[in-house]
Amino acid sequence: MQNILINDIKHTLGGLSAEERSKFQDSTVLITGCAGFLGYYMMQFFAAEADELGIKKIIGLDNFMLGMPGWINALSENPKVDIRKFDIIKDKIEDIEGADQADFIIHMASIASPMFYRKYPIETLDANIWGLRSLLDFYAPRGVKGFLFFSSSELYGDPDPAQVPTSEDYNGNVCATGPRACYDESKRFGETMCMLFAQKYNMPIGVARPFNNYGPGMRVGDKRVPADFAIAVLEGRDIEILSNGTPTRTFCYIADSVCGYFKILLHGKYDYFNIGIEKPEITIAQLAEIYVKHGRDIFGYTGKVKYATSEDKEYLTNNPLRRCPNIDKARRILGYNPTVFVDEGVGRFLMYLKESNEREYKW
Ligand SMILES: NC(=O)c1ccc[n+]([C@@H]2O[C@H](COP(=O)([O-])OP(=O)(O)OC[C@H]3O[C@@H](n4cnc5c(N)ncnc54)[C@H](O)[C@@H]3O)[C@@H](O)[C@H]2O)c1
Repeated sequence: MQNILINDIKHTLGGLSAEERSKFQDSTVLITGCAGFLGYYMMQFFAAEADELGIKKIIGLDNFMLGMPGWINALSENPKVDIRKFDIIKDKIEDIEGADQADFIIHMASIASPMFYRKYPIETLDANIWGLRSLLDFYAPRGVKGFLFFSSSELYGDPDPAQVPTSEDYNGNVCATGPRACYDESKRFGETMCMLFAQKYNMPIGVARPFNNYGPGMRVGDKRVPADFAIAVLEGRDIEILSNGTPTRTFCYIADSVCGYFKILLHGKYDYFNIGIEKPEITIAQLAEIYVKHGRDIFGYTGKVKYATSEDKEYLTNNPLRRCPNIDKARRILGYNPTVFVDEGVGRFLMYLKESNEREYKW
């Protein structure tokens, strides 16, 4: 395993309290969307730490709609890991051996990259609505210890400037018929479903609203900005910014964010949380310069930053101008405390890519 990943996994584990860790003892964890970016990191984490945490089994499900990652085979050699091809929209969860024994459920199946979810809008909507519904129906009578639904910061749409940094009590500004609606609205509806199932069946459902994660596991052809900049560095091309470079984001390194997701999973009762990092809020142009700097140091990169127009006409439609979370709630209730700022995180991500075989990030 890459040194960066080993250290990142220790960082994630180190953010969990002894009490939180003990909750994994003797458990089975079931993850949908296990072949994606967050799936990669979580599967690597559980495979590496299963013995330490006393986890019995990790079941990973994915329909591999964007291809089969090369790392899946190596991970499947771990006797505690069981990875299956499974479509959450149409396959039956009761057909998965051991699914009825699962204590912790993580529902992540849903393409996160705007370029790809707009290519598969109905599949995206179905995974967040009917996929979620079938899991809730199956687990409501079974009494799980934790159920984590991945919503998104996109649930806030393009926020009113007065609502940035954005806290959980902001209701959002989302276009129901725009090119991102398949994603934003299905996450919103999914959250409503979680609330209703938690109320009716007293399920310990936690909802995560992730804000712009990046790092090991992100496929470089994924078309999200951190991936686009990384592949430009790897291929020695100039970095192309497909906007005027002024939209701002905060970027949360995966070793921090996954610790936050686990805290929600282990919380034991219904609630919803922003997971991200509050600072620094930087422009896309500043992010590109950070890639250039670390690219130069790590790869001897000599490219520069330039501006271009996406071939996709809808690329910038409803793209929020600012995205920055208020994470006070997760800090206060969960003890979530992200510490990897974007400058360090981009360096770690590029170093991870240098240490990796292509099958880890390209498929
Ligand atoms: N990464 C982020 O910054 C971010 C931000 C906000 C929300 N999220 C949410 O977190 C979750 C994981 O994000 P990610 O970045 O890993 O996404 P990703 O696009 O990298 O991976 C999603 C995975 O889900 C799988 N999938 C899609 N539809 C499926 C179906 N019907 N059945 C089975 N598998 C299916 C895909 O094959 C893919 O492997 C998603 O729900 C996403 O909406 C992520």
